Amino acid sequence: MIIARSATELRAAINGPVSFVPTMGALHAGHASLIRLAAADGSCVVVSDFVNPSQFGEGEDFESYPRDLDGDAAIAEQAGAQILYAPSMAEIYPPDFATTIDPGPLAHELCGALRPGHFAGVATVVVRLFGLVGPRRAIFGRKDYQQLAILQLVAKDLALGIEIVGAPTIRDADGLALSSRNAYLSAAERVQAAALPVALQRAAAAYANGERDAAILAAIGRNALDGVELEYLELRSAELAPYDPEHLAVLLVAGHLGATRLIDNIVLDPTAPEHAVAQLSTKEYA
Ligand code: PAF
Repeated sequence: MIIARSATELRAAINGPVSFVPTMGALHAGHASLIRLAAADGSCVVVSDFVNPSQFGEGEDFESYPRDLDGDAAIAEQAGAQILYAPSMAEIYPPDFATTIDPGPLAHELCGALRPGHFAGVATVVVRLFGLVGPRRAIFGRKDYQQLAILQLVAKDLALGIEIVGAPTIRDADGLALSSRNAYLSAAERVQAAALPVALQRAAAAYANGERDAAILAAIGRNALDGVELEYLELRSAELAPYDPEHLAVLLVAGHLGATRLIDNIVLDPTAPEHAVAQLSTKEYA
């Protein structure tokens, strides 16, 4: 695997149609699964490793975000990446950089309501990375459900011609979705963090038993979130429009354990309502 420190090195290393896995580093088994998915069709897999300041709000963890290029390189190579692109700040944001991509109203809801500018920062860096990397498809985890939906919208609206692929969430044995930020949790918080998947699982079990009332499903989830400072627990349509009991839906949760912000979600399918429960308990769901 080649570590490219600049777009020039990156371009010299690319040797075929690119499947791209954008990351902020601190790679874990969840990222490895995205890389394996990217590599499955034999394309040239580029993983970017860049902690993007424009998606962090004031007082958030930009400075303390875990950085470990050597560890990232080992995981990326093992999972099948050909190139790890670790650009400098100046390459991504040159001094005269002036553009911001505003992904529209969805960027201001759910996670965006309490993180103003977050999704504009994500969309801007991802589109810039797309320009530098030139992929034909890009893979993102479904754990960041709203991010994935917004990037699909941006790719469509801006006619980028890049396929945006969502990949299954990878979970620890107790159901906690893997995230680079899990490393911030103290031992006690790590135990408590399993409340998030438990909340989703309980609501999914009620859904599988026929419950379709959004307020009741949310209350069932909320009751499992003892110790979590809840930001939101919300049922939406799969497209993040208002919930419609007849159609594919998603239950999304965000909350804090101490200083650590965690998110998770589960898709609820009225035509196969037992699916969510089964998949959550096997650590992966589609
Ligand atoms: O999901 C992430 O790690 C980041 O938001 C992304 C997509 C790499 C943009 O910085």
